[in-house]
Amino acid sequence: MGKHPAQLERITLVPLAPHHATHAARLHILGQPGTFLTSLGADVLTVLYQTLPLSPAGFGFAAIDPSQPHALLGFVSATTSIAALFLELGTRRLPAFLPPLLRRFGRHPALAARAAQTLAYPLLHSTPAETSTPAELLSIMVEPARRRAGIGALLVAALQAECQRRGVTVLDVTVDAANDAAQRFYIRYGFAYAQAFSLYGRSMHLYRAKLAAA
Ligand SMILES: CC(C)(COP(=O)(O)OP(=O)(O)OC[C@H]1O[C@@H](n2cnc3c(N)ncnc32)[C@H](O)[C@@H]1OP(=O)(O)O)[C@@H](O)C(=O)NCCC(=O)NCCS
Repeated sequence: MGKHPAQLERITLVPLAPHHATHAARLHILGQPGTFLTSLGADVLTVLYQTLPLSPAGFGFAAIDPSQPHALLGFVSATTSIAALFLELGTRRLPAFLPPLLRRFGRHPALAARAAQTLAYPLLHSTPAETSTPAELLSIMVEPARRRAGIGALLVAALQAECQRRGVTVLDVTVDAANDAAQRFYIRYGFAYAQAFSLYGRSMHLYRAKLAAA
């Protein structure tokens, strides 16, 4: 991680906040082309990223250059309960979430079926009974021009420390099986391959990091 100190020394990590949502949605679309969440469009993703840090079950970090605080260089998001996030979107945040979602479904009806599969997502991979409830890393995205400079490593380290602070000792992440770069990244930073499953007709890999109790 100390390999690009000149580039990293100006970078600050701050907790992910609702005002980062527009930029987070932009980085998500750039970082995950062709995936289901990206296909929901910038408006829906913006509501998702506004909602996540407002929920007690959602947390994350944003990497910024303090001299340009509005430009997000990267972010990571996670949850201790996907079900709690869905509930938040389906209740308190429904007035913000539903209109852009319905507009998107109106233009692309096939997306509605995939959304139903997303609701089933928490059931698709099992958790060994001996572990505490895992947190789930939902997304990590670095501005394309700033990749391979250690920003992702900073974000993952901050996330793992926050999990430990919350008493969570297992952190899971689901990666598209075709995303070699992300899998190398996760392995490098303490995750191990755990299992394969299928989502939206694509092969997915679950990676898991075991964290020391704080
Ligand atoms: C995955 C991602 C977040 C990594 O962020 P980053 O800031 O580039 O990562 P770091 O610089 O901290 O770590 C780089 C290390 O990860 C691995 N890695 C990252 N990208 C890689 C690539 N394209 N090919 C091979 N290894 C890669 C390597 O081990 C690399 O170390 P090295 O540069 O010494 O070889 C970034 O590439 C990204 O935004 N990708 C698109 C979005 C995505 O796929 N996110 C994950 C799924 S949610």
